[in-house]
Amino acid sequence: MADSWVNSAERIGADLHLEMAGAGPRRAALIRALREAVRSGRLAPGTRLPPYRSLAADLGVARNTVADTYAELVAEGWLTARQGSGTRVAERAEPLGAHARVPTKAPPRARGPRHDLRQGTPDASSFPRAAWLASYRRALQQAPNEAFGPGDPAGRIELRRALTEYLARARGVRTEPERIVICSGFAHALRLLFAGTGGVLRGPLAVESYGLGFHRELLATAAVRTVPLPLDEDGALVGELGRERAVLLTPAHQFPTGGPLHPSRRAAAVDWARARGGVILEDDYDGEFRYDRKPVGAVQGLDPERVIHIGSVSKSLSPALRLGWMVVPERYVDGVLAAKGEREAWASVPDQLTLADFIVSGSYDRHVRRMRQRYRVRRDRLVAALATHAPHVEVTGIAAGLHAVLRLPPGTEQSVVKAAVWQEVALDGLAEFRHPAATMSAPDGLVVGYATPAEHAYGAALDALCGVLPPG
Ligand SMILES: Cc1ncc(COP(=O)(O)O)c(C=O)c1O
Repeated sequence: MADSWVNSAERIGADLHLEMAGAGPRRAALIRALREAVRSGRLAPGTRLPPYRSLAADLGVARNTVADTYAELVAEGWLTARQGSGTRVAERAEPLGAHARVPTKAPPRARGPRHDLRQGTPDASSFPRAAWLASYRRALQQAPNEAFGPGDPAGRIELRRALTEYLARARGVRTEPERIVICSGFAHALRLLFAGTGGVLRGPLAVESYGLGFHRELLATAAVRTVPLPLDEDGALVGELGRERAVLLTPAHQFPTGGPLHPSRRAAAVDWARARGGVILEDDYDGEFRYDRKPVGAVQGLDPERVIHIGSVSKSLSPALRLGWMVVPERYVDGVLAAKGEREAWASVPDQLTLADFIVSGSYDRHVRRMRQRYRVRRDRLVAALATHAPHVEVTGIAAGLHAVLRLPPGTEQSVVKAAVWQEVALDGLAEFRHPAATMSAPDGLVVGYATPAEHAYGAALDALCGVLPPG
């Protein structure tokens, strides 16, 4: 017997992996195996061992062999035996000996920045734990047994139906469940679309001159060349699109500069895609959060066959959930599914069912409305603080989203970013988001994420921000 898994789950509440290597008497092998399991920390202090009879049956040894082994290890101090509570691993401060493999002390936690004004995350302290848990419970209660088998790579139909209705109502997306593919978020969608020979798209890809460096790196890793399009206050200059067959845009809220793509540019982008047989990748990363006017609908609604619309819950709920969706023109559906693989390998099916319930039950709308209100108040506080303490700093891109751009006097961005580091204020300069090959002018500015701090920490973060801005 080289080693054995002892499945005594219903008796001790856990499987027991014992390495009973070597020839010789079974008793000696069992003693060695149990000592090693305790010494290495695999059997934690207090763990209850299986009764003699069941361990003997599982290992195929005599009952007395187990009884003698336990008695020996109790005598040595490895185990304790008490009437009524069975035989347990002795309580020790830490596993014995220098061979201990399991660390007994948690490593020190890395401390985050004192004031976190980085863009990119919603207020993590506002995650709707109770409502999510209620949806999770309902989803598990109602899920058919087959939901716990291998998942369909397209995603659960319950979620695709819920998204079809939600995206039509809230974002003006025209689709049907068969055109939706569930993924783990925008980054995953990019990977699927440009998955080498298996992917449905090839580079070069036109992108906005300012965008998320992480996405550019991801595309570079997939050998996709990106070509920067200049921006102005109406968004990307789509009239300058060249020979590319695909363009990546953030039409609802340019990332990170903040304006919506002008309606004439939206129409021009669709005309370009029709004329060239090309496609628009629409990154709808924070489309739900618009404060001053009606939400800007998705470009996808203008021509569902020319736009791949991509969204996720990363801004609306949490980037930790890793849940997103792609609304795909018919001609790409099979290719995207093929890139995803035969089975769902990314988005947990119980989480998909939970999100479906969360949407259908109205919890998603309630949460988005609540957060919109909260973020709007934060945005107003940011604007008011700057008006008082730094009236010379212009705030832009504030009609939507979870971040604002502060325009700085020319030549000051680097020194302000350095001052922020000294004052432990985490934020990014605009240069951080600039495409390395961009040719447009490079304004100085800061990208300030006002959603990130917890509610109680926001006031201090604003004071610290005002403290690092250049004097007027
Ligand atoms: C520009 C942009 N696109 C997309 C996303 C969403 O990415 P993901 O869905 O991969 O979390 C983010 C961040 O949340 C973003 O800043």
